[in-house]
This record gives sequence, structure tokens and C-alpha cells, in this order.
Amino acid sequence: MKKIVIAIDGTSSSGKSSFARRIAAKLGYIFIDTGAMYRAVTLYAMRRGCIAVDGTIDTECLIAGLPEVTIEFRPNPVSGNSDIYLNGENVEQPIRTIEVSDRVSAVSQIPAVREQLVELQRLIGTEKGVVMDGRDIGTVVFPDAELKLFMTADPEVRAMRRYRELTERGEKVSLEEIIENIRKRDQADMTRAVSPLKKAPDALTLDNSRMSQEEQMVWVMEKINKLTQGNS
Ligand code: DC
Repeated sequence: MKKIVIAIDGTSSSGKSSFARRIAAKLGYIFIDTGAMYRAVTLYAMRRGCIAVDGTIDTECLIAGLPEVTIEFRPNPVSGNSDIYLNGENVEQPIRTIEVSDRVSAVSQIPAVREQLVELQRLIGTEKGVVMDGRDIGTVVFPDAELKLFMTADPEVRAMRRYRELTERGEKVSLEEIIENIRKRDQADMTRAVSPLKKAPDALTLDNSRMSQEEQMVWVMEKINKLTQGNS
């Protein structure tokens, strides 16, 4: 069976990462959550003191620290997923806090950050057999990907999903706070100058507001089978 690159872009909390993870598991492909990479750089910048309490970023401070940032994905034998490591530390949990979510859009707008991460993403994807999710995968990172998806869902549905995810982990957040964060991130991601979130012309749209995980999988497997069958 021919191996392909699957690029999944879309709005915040549209279920891209969990869908990408499930597709990768089903096909035996590598899964790369590029949002986690931008989050890891944001966490690094916060710890280095490059981001003020009001969210203002000292860009020079962040750029000076970039050569020290090492990001890797390593398999987690317990969960069966792969976890993200920042300079050797497993940061899978701390990158998902609301503090990081509030600051990541601003950090991801810095061209030097994008250059470093896009280079790493392309390196990881040189071997086919990869499912990568983010905002610019089908437009910038892998414009030649064989299958491009653009995922979205109604903002209320997305906020509710994020709310459940965070409260299950014991975070104290309100639904209003999350709706506000999603609204701001959609706006920032779509209007930024560098690699804004936009649908590639040849991407297929998947609005999963009212679709179950199974329905989404049936939908995508039909597309994947058409692309991979009959080719070795
Ligand atoms: O997918 P996520 O919500 O974890 O992504 C976090 C942030 O990172 C999001 O606000 C936009 C940014 N991002 C990006 O600019 N480019 C990507 N390829 C992935 C994420």
C-alpha cells in the first residue's frame, strides 16, 4: 500500500489532533501535533521570562533563546501516544494550560519561531506515512501532501469540548473564559501576517459539529483508500 502525507488544518479545538492521532494509529503512520510544538516554545518563553504578565512578548529575548530549544516526540508506552519533550523534559501537561493557550497565538506569529518549527516539521515528514495537524500544514509545510483536510466545528461545540478536556484534568476554568480564548485565537490565527490559517484550495472541508468519531473515520478512510489502493 502506497504511503502518503496527510495534512490536517483547522480551527482551535476542532478535534484535529485526536482525529489525526486515530488516523495515524489505524494506518501505522507517525502523528505530529504541530500545535504542541508552538505551545512548547511558548512555555519555554514564559519560563525564560520573555513574556510579561500582561502577555507582552519580549521578542528579542525569545529569539535569543531559540537556539537552546530542542523539541522531540517520544512514544509513551502507557498511553500508546507520543509525548512532546522540551529540552529533554516531558511537557505534554504544562503546554495545555490556559496560560499557555492565551499566549501561544502571539508566539506563533513570530517569523523566527515559525521558520525553526517548519524546518523541523519538514524533517520529520521526509519519510511518507505521516499525519500532521496544525494551521499551515497543507498551505506551507506540505503543500504537496496527497490528502489535505480542513476541519472545523461550531464555536460552541469546540468550546464545550475544550471545557470538558480541561475540567477532567482538574483545571479551574469557566466556559465563558474558553469561548473567549477560542474566539480570540480564531481571529489571531486567521488574520496574522505570517502563514495565516486558511484552507488550501485543494483541501476537503470536514465540519464535525454533528458527526461522531466513527462517522468521521468512515468518511476519511474512504478518501485514504482511494489514494493508496492499487499502488505499491
Ligand atoms: O492546535 P493548538 O490549538 O494546540 O495550537 C496552538 C496554537 O499554535 C494556535 O493558536 C495556533 C498555533 N499554531 C500555528 O500557528 N501553526 C501550526 N501549524 C499549529 C499551531
